[in-house]
Amino acid sequence: MKHRGQPPEPYRIKSVEPIRLLHRPEREKRLIEASYNIFGLRAQDIYIDLLTDSGTGAMSTRQWAALMMGDETYAGAVSFQHFEETVRKITRKRFVIPCHQGRSAENMVFTTILEKGQYIVNNTHFDTTRANTLHKGGIAVDLPCPESTSLEPSSFKGNMDVEKLEKFIKKHGRDKIPMVIMTVTNNSVGGQPVSMKNIKEVSAICKKHNILYFFDCARFAENCYFIRRDESGYADKAIEDIAAEMFEQCDGVMMSAKKDGLANIGGFVALNDERLYQKLTELMIIIEGFPTYGGLAGRDLEVLAIGLQEVMDFSYLDFRIEQVAYFGRQLKQAGMPIVEPTGGHAVFVDAGQYLPHIPAERFPGQALTTAFYIEGGVRVVEIGSLMFGGEDLTNGEKLLAPRELVRMALPRRVYTNSHLDYVAGVAQTITNRKESLTGYEIAWESELLRHFTCRLKPAAPEAVQMES
Ligand code: F0G
Repeated sequence: MKHRGQPPEPYRIKSVEPIRLLHRPEREKRLIEASYNIFGLRAQDIYIDLLTDSGTGAMSTRQWAALMMGDETYAGAVSFQHFEETVRKITRKRFVIPCHQGRSAENMVFTTILEKGQYIVNNTHFDTTRANTLHKGGIAVDLPCPESTSLEPSSFKGNMDVEKLEKFIKKHGRDKIPMVIMTVTNNSVGGQPVSMKNIKEVSAICKKHNILYFFDCARFAENCYFIRRDESGYADKAIEDIAAEMFEQCDGVMMSAKKDGLANIGGFVALNDERLYQKLTELMIIIEGFPTYGGLAGRDLEVLAIGLQEVMDFSYLDFRIEQVAYFGRQLKQAGMPIVEPTGGHAVFVDAGQYLPHIPAERFPGQALTTAFYIEGGVRVVEIGSLMFGGEDLTNGEKLLAPRELVRMALPRRVYTNSHLDYVAGVAQTITNRKESLTGYEIAWESELLRHFTCRLKPAAPEAVQMES
């Protein structure tokens, strides 16, 4: 039967975890104790946690059962064989290297292929991918398509700018570019998908110039869903077949399996080049573990072998992507401008537009983030000038983010639409008093990745008005 409107959850609930809403005065106290930084809050003090979709998903009955089947043999574990077989089948790659999460895959790959002063080109680097490139002395270059920053809704805003890629390669030469990466979906521009056409165009360019082409495929199944839904010629194809077609375009992948692995921990590198595989495994034994467990327990590999298949189930993906879209519509109705269309794993609110009385220097995204906690015990995260701004270390200039966003990520299979209706209710309450929100000043910050640990204090409203 066809559903009317929102598809219902394609699963029923077998195990529950109580959550509790603290009274408002307690929430206020907790936020002050955390110096107004939501990374400092404790799990038990949060009612609904939309900080991230990474490692926060719920496992299926099959996965819980598989956990007990985990084979903890040091070398040659059966669970590794299950994992390897699944990853090979999905990614169409010969060699599979497990690791404990996405950033360790990045660390291993960049340590192996990148030399000082070389460029890694990406549609948009995720923070850890960028940090790992810089850490190895490389230069991280983002070439997102022009639509990625447009306010107009359009499909496949996650694409790479193919013309710019050609120009970049021409200018710098292939010897300066050891790898081009396509991040699917493109997290940093709003979880926006990449089209098969774009994936293939970039593949052709990389082949022509003999440059390695890798995917950062943390959310590969969500990307395949969008291809099926929005790209012509794919409406009748199975997600598995779309994934196969997509993965056949690249030389290798790095994956944070904490997302579309439907698991709480895990990652991998998969590739065809035997020499590169050998180099990676040598390094891996030093930093992650023996190649048949890679920093994970056998039970984690067993769980991943199932999660990676379950995530391609069409009814699961249909529910998930529709749930994100539903949540976006609810937030819009509550008066919040959002990035449109909604992407795969989160809704992004444009706090700069929503709170025009708070200048970017006073972090409107942080004002909204703290309001969600105070008003309803909801944790969301600022993705604006607190996260990306600061001082340019090369010239001392003050940096601001291109947009002041707040990300509301949905953990997989965790929250129902009633939870999201509650969050939308909180959003409406905030809208009703949004003129009263004030910005923040930084009381203390670390030199790198300051948003995780900085201490904040509310800025006086008069000060804000005087400056704006
Ligand atoms: N690549 C992408 C596209 C990601 O979104 C992430 C993590 C990573 C790599 C790194 O993987 O966390 O397993 O080391 N994203 C999380 C987020 C943290 O909240 O978006 P990891």
